[in-house]
Amino acid sequence: MNPTSTPARPTLQIALTPGTIDLAWGHPAAEFLPVAAMQRASTAALQRYGAAALTYGHPAGPGPLLDWLCQRIGQREGRTPGLHEIMITGGNSLGLDQLLTLCTVPGDIVLVESPTYHLAVRILRDHPLTLVPVPADGDGLQVEALAETLAELRREGKRARLLYTVPTFHNPTGISLSAARRQTLIALAEREGLLIVEDDVYRELAYDGPPPPSLWSQAPLGVVARLGSFSKSLAPGVRLGWLTASPSIIRRLTDGGLLDSGGGINHFTALIVTLLCESGDYDAGVAQFCNTYRARRDALLGGLAQALPPTCSWYRPSGGFFTWVILPTGMNSRALLPQAEAAGVSFIPGPKFYLEPRGENTLRLAFSYYPPASLAEAGQILGNVIRNFGR
Ligand SMILES: Cc1ncc(COP(=O)(O)O)c(C=O)c1O
Repeated sequence: MNPTSTPARPTLQIALTPGTIDLAWGHPAAEFLPVAAMQRASTAALQRYGAAALTYGHPAGPGPLLDWLCQRIGQREGRTPGLHEIMITGGNSLGLDQLLTLCTVPGDIVLVESPTYHLAVRILRDHPLTLVPVPADGDGLQVEALAETLAELRREGKRARLLYTVPTFHNPTGISLSAARRQTLIALAEREGLLIVEDDVYRELAYDGPPPPSLWSQAPLGVVARLGSFSKSLAPGVRLGWLTASPSIIRRLTDGGLLDSGGGINHFTALIVTLLCESGDYDAGVAQFCNTYRARRDALLGGLAQALPPTCSWYRPSGGFFTWVILPTGMNSRALLPQAEAAGVSFIPGPKFYLEPRGENTLRLAFSYYPPASLAEAGQILGNVIRNFGR
């Protein structure tokens, strides 16, 4: 079976239209997913752990993977999670859902950076919460606006339970929160008793030098719950990630019914990934992904620079999967989409990423999935469509 075909019962999330360069999907480069390394690691995991690989696991995840992660996080981030400050998750989506299930109550106010990852909004909306947008700009979340929102809530006798943010290589914009704003955000959250939920899914995919320090690594204990994931740095199909947070949050999740009943999340896969990480294949894969995605980013941005009219602008991301295009004021990306698709390129219109009705003249492009030549071509096609729009 062609794995990208869509039979009656689909195997994959992605569904592509033949003949379209579909930059809507923030999916990994399929040809670099680590099939052979996973095969080796699966065999090695069964050899090393035998039946222990195939039974219920510990609720926090297998010790060897937690040890490997702690060492790596300590080396990379200058702060090593304590014994009870880390657990394995089933990826950031499940980790976020678990956090919301166990650390919020119906009616709680959750602040959400806007624009934001649209599918995190879907997870947030699966819970009976009140979502309040906080604007972001070219330096990331506007911390002053956050302070105003918190003050306004206080005047109304209300408090926000948590803030969901993607401060590093943001989806959809590609932007990273500036160093100055990281510090003021942490100080504000500490002062206000606000839990920051840091979605750190793109940390490993840094193309212009090391990524900015995580909020978690810079904040006092308990201020930040950071969601890390193997989805972008290894493979989304493994459905594995980790949470670094205060022992009380980790305990709340590991003591919850889901992990107690299920014996951790994806225990066998977690042991396979442990072996893959220990073997050096993980680091080699991350390096290959970074080289691949850097070239793809450059190809797309090069195509945009050649083809888009000077009335358009876009961000140059230093990591992650996306860039964000700002069209001339008055040009509507939702109206542009059918014309772009007819010409052979697709994207997600900006309004999809806002909680409030905004972003009409913006759109998100993913550069992760297609090879450089297709991305350069997509830039050219988009440029033609924009130039001819409304004519
Ligand atoms: C910001 C952000 N968070 C979370 C996810 C999903 O992460 P996971 O596969 O670990 O659930 C994505 C995937 O696109 C993402 O862009």
